[in-house]
Parts: sequence; C-alpha cells; structure tokens
Amino acid sequence: MENLTIIHHPLIQHKISILRDKRTGTNEFRSLIEEIAMLMGYEALRDLPLEDVPVETPIEACMTPMISGKKLAVVPILRAGLGMVNGILALVPSAKVGHIGLYRDEVTHEPHEYYCKLPSPIELRTILVTDPMLATGGSAVAAVDFIKQHGGRNIKFMSIIAAPEGIERLQKAHPDIHIYLGHLDRCLNQDAYICPGLGDAGDRIFGTR
Ligand code: PRP
Ligand code: URA
Repeated sequence: MENLTIIHHPLIQHKISILRDKRTGTNEFRSLIEEIAMLMGYEALRDLPLEDVPVETPIEACMTPMISGKKLAVVPILRAGLGMVNGILALVPSAKVGHIGLYRDEVTHEPHEYYCKLPSPIELRTILVTDPMLATGGSAVAAVDFIKQHGGRNIKFMSIIAAPEGIERLQKAHPDIHIYLGHLDRCLNQDAYICPGLGDAGDRIFGTR
C-alpha cells in the first residue's frame, strides 16, 4: 500500500525476534530498540533533500552533496518512543528533538496528553515521529494531530511493530504521512495489546512494572 513501508531487512527481523522473547532483559531490550531504530531510520530518511556544496579535498576543489534545508526533527512519543531517539541521532547528529507525552488509559485505551514540546520553527522540517508500538493507533493519531496543529507538514511515522487496526486508524486520520514499520503483527487482544507483539514496550525499555 502507498505510504506504508515494511522494512523486511533480515537484521531488523532478527532483532525484532529477540525483542519479542520475554526472557530478553531491559539492558539488551533497550540496545536492540536503538539498533533497530537506526537501521529503520536509514530507510525512512532516504529522501532527505541534498544540495551540492563546495569542498576542498587534498587533491582539488569539488562540489559534493550534503543534506540541505532545516534540520530534521525527531519526535518520540513518550515514553517508549524515547528508546528510538539515539538510533536516529547516530545517523543525523544535528537533528532537533521534540517530545510528545501520551499515555493510554488502561480502560478506554485512548491516549491522554501530559507534555508536548516541538523544535521551532517546525513548519519546514522533515519530522520523524517514533514509537515502537502502533496498537489501536490512538497515540499516533493524537501525536500527528498535535504536530499538524503546530504547523508541521512533512511527517513520517516510524514504528517497530504494528497491528492492522492501528495502521488503518492512522492512515484514515492522516493519509498524507508515510508509515515505516519493522513488522506487521496479527491483531490486538481484548486489552489492546499487539499479538504476538512484545508486551509493554515502555515497561521493557525502562524496567518498570
Ligand atoms: C504505548 C506505546 C504507544 C501506545 C500505543 O505507550 O508506546 O505510545 O502505547 O498504543 P495505541 O496505538 O493503542 O495508542 P503507553 O501508553 O503504554 O505509554 P508508555 O510508553 O509511557 O508506557
Ligand atoms: N503498547 C505497548 O507497549 N504494547 C502493546 O502491545 C500495545 C500498546
């Protein structure tokens, strides 16, 4: 489907399988989230704009491409999206970082906002929203709503594991954004957890619960 890229790279698939394993501890889980984000970021950022700039090599002067325009904005959805930020910053160290704080109500599964701050100006930046889990899609839709209300336009959404329900909801609400996924899982369970998924990403990254 247009605007949806599932990155079937074997390194990503292998690392996702280790993430899923309930025996994988916090330390390894956190490192893997970061590594997967970096590998996925390589693909998600392949259309960053370039411009030729003058450089003098030890041999001669030449024009050579460098990333142009306003600096990339990485916007994690707290908490779990934070785990992906360093993977992207390893690729684009000059990126700015925004934060969108949302938590899902345990009963309704709808997101509640508790903190939002975006780099300014946001209008001309490529914006990469990160969250390892796209479940009902409520958090993703709320995050993109917020970014658009503040003038963000060129938005990409990057998630490691998604349920079909979440993709459908996000695509319906925001058909203009490109979604990058590591794996599309089967469905949600009655608690709105992704099956087979990996459990609660925030708790596994931060060692809570
Ligand atoms: C998790 C996850 C996403 C959200 C996905 O966050 O990191 O943000 O749930 O679910 P949705 O697609 O149904 O909205 P959670 O609300 O558990 O907060 P946390 O990251 O702080 O643990
Ligand atoms: N949030 C998570 O962390 N995991 C899920 O499976 C669904 C939402």
